[in-house]
Amino acid sequence: MKLTNEQQAMLDGKHGKATRKAMEILAALGTIYAAERMLPVTSAQIAGVSYENLGEAGLEFLSEMAENGGKARVLTTLNPAGMDIENWQALGISPDFAENQTRVLSAFAAMGIITTCTCTPYLSGNLPHFGEHIAWAESSAVCFANSIIGARTNREGGPSALAAALTGFTPGYGMHLDPERQPVVTVQVKARLADGGSGPRTHLFGALGRVIGEKLAASGLRPVPFIQGIEQASLEELKSFCASVATYGGTALFHMEGVTPESTSAAVPSAIIQITQPDLEAAIQALNDGTSAEVDFVSLGCPHLSLAEIDRLASLLEGKQVVKEFWITTSRPNKQVADRMGYTQVIEASGAKFAVDTCCVVAPIKGRFHTLATDSAKACYYAYAKNKFKTVFMPFDQVVEEALGRSAT
Ligand code: F3S
Repeated sequence: MKLTNEQQAMLDGKHGKATRKAMEILAALGTIYAAERMLPVTSAQIAGVSYENLGEAGLEFLSEMAENGGKARVLTTLNPAGMDIENWQALGISPDFAENQTRVLSAFAAMGIITTCTCTPYLSGNLPHFGEHIAWAESSAVCFANSIIGARTNREGGPSALAAALTGFTPGYGMHLDPERQPVVTVQVKARLADGGSGPRTHLFGALGRVIGEKLAASGLRPVPFIQGIEQASLEELKSFCASVATYGGTALFHMEGVTPESTSAAVPSAIIQITQPDLEAAIQALNDGTSAEVDFVSLGCPHLSLAEIDRLASLLEGKQVVKEFWITTSRPNKQVADRMGYTQVIEASGAKFAVDTCCVVAPIKGRFHTLATDSAKACYYAYAKNKFKTVFMPFDQVVEEALGRSAT
Protein backbone atom coordinates (compact mmCIF):
# COMPACT_ATOMS: atom_id res chain seq x y z
CA MET A 1 0.00 0.00 0.00
CA LYS A 2 1.15 3.52 -0.70
CA LEU A 3 2.17 5.64 2.25
CA THR A 4 2.56 9.40 2.25
CA ASN A 5 5.83 10.94 3.41
CA GLU A 6 4.30 11.64 6.80
CA GLN A 7 3.05 8.06 7.19
CA GLN A 8 6.41 6.66 6.04
CA ALA A 9 8.17 8.87 8.60
CA MET A 10 5.93 7.40 11.30
CA LEU A 11 6.82 3.90 10.10
CA ASP A 12 10.50 4.79 10.11
CA GLY A 13 10.32 5.82 13.77
CA LYS A 14 10.78 9.56 13.20
CA HIS A 15 7.79 10.29 15.48
CA GLY A 16 8.88 7.99 18.30
CA LYS A 17 8.62 4.33 19.16
CA ALA A 18 4.91 4.20 20.00
CA THR A 19 3.90 5.92 16.76
CA ARG A 20 6.15 3.53 14.83
CA LYS A 21 4.52 0.51 16.49
CA ALA A 22 1.08 1.97 15.75
CA MET A 23 1.91 2.52 12.08
CA GLU A 24 3.32 -1.00 11.86
CA ILE A 25 0.00 -2.38 13.09
CA LEU A 26 -1.95 -0.30 10.56
CA ALA A 27 0.38 -1.09 7.66
CA ALA A 28 0.11 -4.82 8.41
CA LEU A 29 -3.69 -4.58 8.48
CA GLY A 30 -3.71 -2.57 5.28
CA THR A 31 -1.58 -5.20 3.56
CA ILE A 32 -3.81 -8.06 4.75
CA TYR A 33 -6.96 -6.32 3.50
CA ALA A 34 -5.36 -4.95 0.32
CA ALA A 35 -5.96 -1.31 1.21
CA GLU A 36 -4.53 1.09 -1.36
CA ARG A 37 -3.86 3.88 1.09
CA MET A 38 -4.33 5.20 4.60
CA LEU A 39 -7.25 7.51 5.33
CA PRO A 40 -7.17 10.29 7.92
CA VAL A 41 -9.59 9.70 10.80
CA THR A 42 -11.32 12.31 12.93
CA SER A 43 -12.15 10.11 15.89
CA ALA A 44 -11.24 6.83 17.58
CA GLN A 45 -13.01 4.66 20.13
CA ILE A 46 -11.07 1.89 21.85
CA ALA A 47 -12.50 -1.39 23.18
CA GLY A 48 -10.79 -3.92 25.42
CA VAL A 49 -10.71 -1.58 28.40
CA SER A 50 -11.87 -3.89 31.18
CA TYR A 51 -8.91 -5.39 33.03
CA GLU A 52 -10.85 -8.63 33.02
CA ASN A 53 -10.53 -8.84 29.23
CA LEU A 54 -7.10 -7.22 28.93
CA GLY A 55 -5.23 -9.06 31.63
CA GLU A 56 -1.62 -8.32 32.50
CA ALA A 57 -0.37 -8.82 28.93
CA GLY A 58 -2.81 -6.22 27.57
CA LEU A 59 -1.92 -3.79 30.34
CA GLU A 60 1.79 -4.22 29.61
CA PHE A 61 1.22 -3.37 25.95
CA LEU A 62 -0.66 -0.20 26.88
CA SER A 63 1.92 0.85 29.46
CA GLU A 64 4.71 0.35 26.93
CA MET A 65 2.91 2.47 24.34
CA ALA A 66 2.43 5.21 26.93
CA GLU A 67 6.06 5.03 28.14
CA ASN A 68 7.24 5.18 24.54
CA GLY A 69 5.58 8.53 24.05
CA GLY A 70 2.25 7.52 22.46
CA LYS A 71 -0.12 10.50 22.21
CA ALA A 72 -3.58 10.58 20.68
CA ARG A 73 -3.75 12.78 17.57
CA VAL A 74 -7.55 12.70 17.28
CA LEU A 75 -10.48 12.71 19.70
CA THR A 76 -10.40 9.29 21.35
CA THR A 77 -12.69 7.77 23.97
CA LEU A 78 -12.94 4.36 25.61
CA ASN A 79 -15.44 1.52 25.77
CA PRO A 80 -16.79 0.55 29.23
CA ALA A 81 -14.26 -0.48 31.85
CA GLY A 82 -14.69 -3.31 34.34
CA MET A 83 -15.97 -1.05 37.11
CA ASP A 84 -17.52 2.26 38.08
CA ILE A 85 -14.41 4.39 38.48
CA GLU A 86 -15.87 6.44 41.34
CA ASN A 87 -18.18 3.94 42.99
CA TRP A 88 -16.68 0.47 42.54
CA GLN A 89 -16.97 -0.54 46.19
CA ALA A 90 -20.77 -0.28 46.13
CA LEU A 91 -20.86 -2.75 43.24
CA GLY A 92 -18.84 -5.39 45.06
CA ILE A 93 -15.66 -5.00 42.98
CA SER A 94 -12.51 -6.23 44.73
CA PRO A 95 -9.72 -3.77 45.65
CA ASP A 96 -7.24 -5.83 43.59
CA PHE A 97 -9.36 -5.56 40.47
CA ALA A 98 -9.92 -1.84 41.11
CA GLU A 99 -6.18 -1.26 41.37
CA ASN A 100 -5.48 -3.04 38.08
CA GLN A 101 -8.36 -1.30 36.32
CA THR A 102 -7.02 2.03 37.52
CA ARG A 103 -3.60 1.19 36.04
CA VAL A 104 -5.27 0.52 32.69
CA LEU A 105 -7.09 3.85 32.73
CA SER A 106 -3.94 5.70 33.78
CA ALA A 107 -2.07 4.26 30.78
CA PHE A 108 -4.82 5.48 28.44
CA ALA A 109 -4.92 8.90 30.13
CA ALA A 110 -1.13 9.22 29.78
CA MET A 111 -1.64 8.93 26.02
CA GLY A 112 -4.12 11.81 26.01
CA ILE A 113 -7.09 9.50 25.55
CA ILE A 114 -10.28 10.75 27.16
CA THR A 115 -11.28 8.23 29.82
CA THR A 116 -15.00 8.51 29.16
CA CYS A 117 -15.80 4.80 29.22
CA THR A 118 -18.93 4.25 27.20
CA CYS A 119 -20.35 2.19 24.35
CA THR A 120 -22.47 5.19 23.28
CA PRO A 121 -19.70 7.72 22.58
CA TYR A 122 -22.06 9.46 20.16
CA LEU A 123 -24.16 10.53 23.19
CA SER A 124 -21.17 11.81 25.13
CA GLY A 125 -19.11 14.16 23.03
CA ASN A 126 -17.59 11.78 20.48
CA LEU A 127 -20.01 12.36 17.62
CA PRO A 128 -18.63 12.20 14.08
CA HIS A 129 -20.62 13.57 11.19
CA PHE A 130 -21.82 12.11 7.92
CA GLY A 131 -19.07 10.74 5.69
CA GLU A 132 -16.22 11.13 8.18
CA HIS A 133 -13.70 8.32 8.46
CA ILE A 134 -13.29 7.12 12.02
CA ALA A 135 -11.79 4.09 13.81
CA TRP A 136 -14.17 2.66 16.39
CA ALA A 137 -14.10 -0.71 18.07
CA GLU A 138 -17.33 -1.30 20.01
CA SER A 139 -19.59 -3.33 17.70
CA SER A 140 -22.87 -1.59 18.63
CA ALA A 141 -21.29 1.84 18.24
CA VAL A 142 -19.67 0.84 14.93
CA CYS A 143 -23.08 -0.22 13.63
CA PHE A 144 -24.66 3.02 14.92
CA ALA A 145 -21.93 5.23 13.45
CA ASN A 146 -22.03 3.59 10.02
CA SER A 147 -25.79 3.19 9.76
CA ILE A 148 -27.48 5.98 11.70
CA ILE A 149 -24.86 8.70 11.33
CA GLY A 150 -23.31 7.72 8.00
CA ALA A 151 -19.75 7.96 9.31
CA ARG A 152 -17.35 5.25 8.09
CA THR A 153 -15.57 2.69 10.24
CA ASN A 154 -14.61 -0.94 10.22
CA ARG A 155 -15.01 -2.81 13.45
CA GLU A 156 -11.57 -2.23 14.87
CA GLY A 157 -9.85 -4.36 17.47
CA GLY A 158 -8.42 -2.67 20.57
CA PRO A 159 -4.85 -2.42 19.16
CA SER A 160 -5.91 -1.13 15.74
CA ALA A 161 -8.21 1.51 17.25
CA LEU A 162 -5.36 2.61 19.52
CA ALA A 163 -3.01 2.67 16.52
CA ALA A 164 -5.48 4.89 14.64
CA ALA A 165 -5.69 7.20 17.66
CA LEU A 166 -1.89 7.54 17.89
CA THR A 167 -1.33 8.16 14.17
CA GLY A 168 -4.60 9.75 13.01
CA PHE A 169 -4.91 7.19 10.19
CA THR A 170 -6.65 3.94 9.35
CA PRO A 171 -6.22 1.68 6.30
CA GLY A 172 -8.86 2.37 3.63
CA TYR A 173 -10.77 -0.87 3.12
CA GLY A 174 -14.15 -2.38 3.99
CA MET A 175 -16.72 0.06 5.36
CA HIS A 176 -14.59 3.05 4.29
CA LEU A 177 -15.25 2.33 0.61
CA ASP A 178 -18.45 3.10 -1.34
CA PRO A 179 -18.86 -0.35 -2.98
CA GLU A 180 -18.64 -2.13 0.37
CA ARG A 181 -21.46 0.01 1.73
CA GLN A 182 -24.00 -1.05 -0.87
CA PRO A 183 -26.80 -3.30 0.42
CA VAL A 184 -27.00 -6.82 -1.01
CA VAL A 185 -30.27 -8.05 0.43
CA THR A 186 -33.63 -6.47 1.17
CA VAL A 187 -35.13 -7.31 4.54
CA GLN A 188 -38.88 -6.78 4.62
CA VAL A 189 -40.16 -6.45 8.18
CA LYS A 190 -43.74 -7.70 8.31
CA ALA A 191 -43.80 -8.11 12.09
CA ARG A 192 -45.53 -5.54 14.29
CA LEU A 193 -43.14 -3.55 16.47
CA ALA A 194 -45.74 -2.85 19.10
CA ASP A 195 -46.89 -4.91 22.03
CA GLY A 196 -49.91 -2.91 23.10
CA GLY A 197 -48.02 -1.04 25.83
CA SER A 198 -47.12 2.63 25.75
CA GLY A 199 -43.54 2.31 27.03
CA PRO A 200 -40.27 2.18 25.10
CA ARG A 201 -39.89 -0.52 22.45
CA THR A 202 -36.17 -1.10 22.99
CA HIS A 203 -36.76 -4.81 23.67
CA LEU A 204 -38.71 -5.27 20.41
CA PHE A 205 -35.96 -3.60 18.39
CA GLY A 206 -33.45 -5.83 20.19
CA ALA A 207 -35.47 -8.93 19.30
CA LEU A 208 -35.77 -7.71 15.70
CA GLY A 209 -32.00 -7.23 15.58
CA ARG A 210 -31.57 -10.82 16.68
CA VAL A 211 -33.95 -12.16 14.00
CA ILE A 212 -32.39 -10.11 11.20
CA GLY A 213 -28.84 -10.80 12.40
CA GLU A 214 -29.39 -14.55 12.57
CA LYS A 215 -31.09 -14.67 9.16
CA LEU A 216 -28.27 -12.70 7.56
CA ALA A 217 -25.65 -14.90 9.16
CA ALA A 218 -27.51 -18.04 8.01
CA SER A 219 -27.90 -16.73 4.43
CA GLY A 220 -24.14 -16.48 3.99
CA LEU A 221 -24.63 -13.08 2.33
CA ARG A 222 -22.31 -10.20 2.99
CA PRO A 223 -24.29 -8.67 5.77
CA VAL A 224 -25.30 -5.18 4.55
CA PRO A 225 -29.10 -5.27 4.55
CA PHE A 226 -31.62 -2.75 3.21
CA ILE A 227 -34.41 -2.86 5.76
CA GLN A 228 -37.99 -1.93 4.86
CA GLY A 229 -41.12 -1.74 6.97
CA ILE A 230 -39.93 0.33 9.97
CA GLU A 231 -42.08 3.43 9.98
CA GLN A 232 -40.44 5.19 12.85
CA ALA A 233 -37.67 4.51 15.35
CA SER A 234 -36.34 6.52 18.28
CA LEU A 235 -32.68 7.02 19.15
CA GLU A 236 -33.00 4.48 21.96
CA GLU A 237 -34.69 1.91 19.75
CA LEU A 238 -31.99 2.31 17.12
CA LYS A 239 -29.16 1.92 19.64
CA SER A 240 -30.82 -1.27 20.89
CA PHE A 241 -31.25 -2.55 17.33
CA CYS A 242 -27.63 -1.76 16.42
CA ALA A 243 -26.32 -3.63 19.47
CA SER A 244 -28.42 -6.67 18.67
CA VAL A 245 -27.93 -6.93 14.91
CA ALA A 246 -24.18 -6.53 15.42
CA THR A 247 -24.15 -9.23 18.10
CA TYR A 248 -26.24 -11.81 16.28
CA GLY A 249 -25.29 -11.02 12.67
CA GLY A 250 -21.90 -9.35 12.83
CA THR A 251 -23.56 -6.46 11.01
CA ALA A 252 -21.47 -3.29 10.84
CA LEU A 253 -23.84 -1.38 8.55
CA PHE A 254 -27.49 -1.45 7.54
CA HIS A 255 -29.71 0.89 5.63
CA MET A 256 -33.24 1.45 6.90
CA GLU A 257 -35.73 2.98 4.50
CA GLY A 258 -36.94 6.37 5.69
CA VAL A 259 -34.64 6.29 8.73
CA THR A 260 -30.92 6.12 7.87
CA PRO A 261 -29.12 8.70 5.71
CA GLU A 262 -27.65 6.43 3.02
CA SER A 263 -30.96 4.60 2.46
CA THR A 264 -32.04 7.41 0.14
CA SER A 265 -29.22 6.74 -2.33
CA ALA A 266 -28.92 2.93 -1.99
CA ALA A 267 -30.29 0.65 -4.71
CA VAL A 268 -32.91 -1.74 -3.34
CA PRO A 269 -31.53 -5.31 -3.75
CA SER A 270 -33.68 -7.94 -5.47
CA ALA A 271 -32.79 -10.71 -2.99
CA ILE A 272 -35.43 -10.63 -0.25
CA ILE A 273 -35.67 -11.91 3.32
CA GLN A 274 -38.97 -11.52 5.15
CA ILE A 275 -39.35 -11.13 8.90
CA THR A 276 -42.72 -12.31 10.14
CA GLN A 277 -44.58 -11.98 13.41
CA PRO A 278 -43.80 -15.62 14.36
CA ASP A 279 -40.09 -14.89 13.69
CA LEU A 280 -40.17 -12.01 16.15
CA GLU A 281 -42.10 -13.96 18.75
CA ALA A 282 -39.71 -16.91 18.45
CA ALA A 283 -36.77 -14.55 19.05
CA ILE A 284 -38.41 -13.12 22.15
CA GLN A 285 -39.05 -16.61 23.44
CA ALA A 286 -35.46 -17.66 22.75
CA LEU A 287 -34.21 -14.75 24.87
CA ASN A 288 -36.12 -16.06 27.89
CA ASP A 289 -34.78 -19.13 29.62
CA GLY A 290 -35.28 -17.97 33.19
CA THR A 291 -38.33 -17.12 35.26
CA SER A 292 -39.23 -14.06 37.27
CA ALA A 293 -38.89 -16.08 40.47
CA GLU A 294 -35.27 -16.86 39.58
CA VAL A 295 -34.25 -13.26 38.80
CA ASP A 296 -31.62 -12.01 41.26
CA PHE A 297 -30.02 -9.36 39.04
CA VAL A 298 -31.69 -6.62 37.04
CA SER A 299 -29.96 -4.24 34.66
CA LEU A 300 -30.88 -1.47 32.24
CA GLY A 301 -28.35 0.28 30.03
CA CYS A 302 -27.07 -2.05 27.32
CA PRO A 303 -26.09 -0.02 25.35
CA HIS A 304 -25.57 2.72 27.91
CA LEU A 305 -28.72 4.63 28.87
CA SER A 306 -29.54 7.94 27.24
CA LEU A 307 -30.68 10.93 29.28
CA ALA A 308 -34.28 10.36 28.17
CA GLU A 309 -34.09 6.79 29.49
CA ILE A 310 -32.63 7.93 32.83
CA ASP A 311 -35.41 10.50 33.10
CA ARG A 312 -38.04 7.81 32.48
CA LEU A 313 -36.39 5.48 34.95
CA ALA A 314 -36.43 8.14 37.66
CA SER A 315 -40.15 8.70 37.14
CA LEU A 316 -40.83 4.95 37.31
CA LEU A 317 -38.82 4.54 40.53
CA GLU A 318 -39.94 7.69 42.35
CA GLY A 319 -41.04 6.90 45.90
CA LYS A 320 -40.55 3.13 45.47
CA GLN A 321 -38.07 0.54 46.76
CA VAL A 322 -36.36 -2.11 44.66
CA VAL A 323 -36.07 -5.58 46.12
CA LYS A 324 -33.44 -6.97 43.71
CA GLU A 325 -29.90 -5.93 42.82
CA PHE A 326 -30.54 -3.34 40.08
CA TRP A 327 -27.70 -1.82 38.04
CA ILE A 328 -28.21 1.28 35.92
CA THR A 329 -25.39 1.53 33.38
CA THR A 330 -24.54 4.74 31.59
CA SER A 331 -21.70 7.10 30.78
CA ARG A 332 -20.11 9.50 33.26
CA PRO A 333 -21.28 12.64 31.38
CA ASN A 334 -24.89 11.39 31.42
CA LYS A 335 -24.63 10.53 35.11
CA GLN A 336 -23.38 14.05 35.83
CA VAL A 337 -26.40 15.53 34.11
CA ALA A 338 -28.60 13.06 36.03
CA ASP A 339 -27.01 14.36 39.25
CA ARG A 340 -27.83 17.93 38.31
CA MET A 341 -31.39 17.12 37.31
CA GLY A 342 -32.13 15.22 40.52
CA TYR A 343 -32.64 11.89 38.70
CA THR A 344 -29.74 10.30 40.58
CA GLN A 345 -31.22 11.13 43.95
CA VAL A 346 -34.58 9.58 43.04
CA ILE A 347 -33.00 6.48 41.52
CA GLU A 348 -30.57 5.88 44.37
CA ALA A 349 -33.27 6.49 46.99
CA SER A 350 -35.09 3.48 45.51
CA GLY A 351 -32.08 1.25 46.19
CA ALA A 352 -31.09 0.95 42.52
CA LYS A 353 -27.35 1.45 41.85
CA PHE A 354 -25.64 3.41 39.16
CA ALA A 355 -22.88 1.38 37.53
CA VAL A 356 -21.25 4.16 35.53
CA ASP A 357 -18.28 3.63 33.14
CA THR A 358 -19.05 -0.12 33.06
CA CYS A 359 -21.82 -2.60 32.26
CA CYS A 360 -23.28 -5.92 33.30
CA VAL A 361 -21.19 -7.70 30.66
CA VAL A 362 -17.69 -6.32 31.16
CA ALA A 363 -17.78 -6.12 34.98
CA PRO A 364 -16.26 -9.15 36.76
CA ILE A 365 -19.51 -10.64 38.11
CA LYS A 366 -19.38 -14.27 37.00
CA GLY A 367 -20.76 -16.50 39.75
CA ARG A 368 -22.36 -13.65 41.70
CA PHE A 369 -25.81 -13.94 40.12
CA HIS A 370 -28.01 -16.58 38.60
CA THR A 371 -30.64 -14.90 36.39
CA LEU A 372 -30.61 -11.48 34.72
CA ALA A 373 -33.70 -9.44 33.79
CA THR A 374 -33.07 -6.92 30.99
CA ASP A 375 -34.60 -5.23 27.93
CA SER A 376 -31.39 -5.82 25.93
CA ALA A 377 -31.03 -8.71 23.48
CA LYS A 378 -27.28 -8.12 23.42
CA ALA A 379 -27.05 -8.34 27.21
CA CYS A 380 -28.96 -11.64 27.08
CA TYR A 381 -26.42 -13.06 24.63
CA TYR A 382 -23.40 -12.17 26.73
CA ALA A 383 -25.06 -12.86 30.08
CA TYR A 384 -25.12 -16.47 28.99
CA ALA A 385 -21.98 -16.59 26.81
CA LYS A 386 -19.73 -14.87 29.33
CA ASN A 387 -21.32 -15.37 32.74
CA LYS A 388 -23.61 -18.40 32.24
CA PHE A 389 -26.58 -16.46 33.62
CA LYS A 390 -30.14 -17.35 32.66
CA THR A 391 -32.09 -14.42 31.21
CA VAL A 392 -35.54 -12.89 31.41
CA PHE A 393 -36.13 -10.52 28.51
CA MET A 394 -38.86 -7.91 28.86
CA PRO A 395 -39.88 -4.32 28.03
CA PHE A 396 -38.03 -1.45 29.74
CA ASP A 397 -40.90 -0.57 32.08
CA GLN A 398 -41.42 -4.20 33.02
CA VAL A 399 -37.73 -4.58 33.88
CA VAL A 400 -38.27 -1.84 36.45
CA GLU A 401 -41.32 -3.69 37.80
CA GLU A 402 -39.14 -6.79 38.07
CA ALA A 403 -36.64 -4.90 40.21
CA LEU A 404 -39.53 -3.71 42.38
CA GLY A 405 -40.70 -7.30 42.82
CA ARG A 406 -43.97 -6.62 41.05
CA SER A 407 -43.50 -8.35 37.71
CA ALA A 408 -46.57 -10.08 36.31
CA THR A 409 -44.56 -12.81 34.54
FE1 F3S B 1 -22.40 -1.53 26.00
FE2 F3S B 1 -21.77 -3.44 27.65
FE3 F3S B 1 -23.93 -3.63 26.20
S1 F3S B 1 -20.38 -2.37 26.32
S2 F3S B 1 -23.48 -2.53 24.33
S3 F3S B 1 -23.54 -2.10 27.80
S4 F3S B 1 -22.48 -5.26 26.59
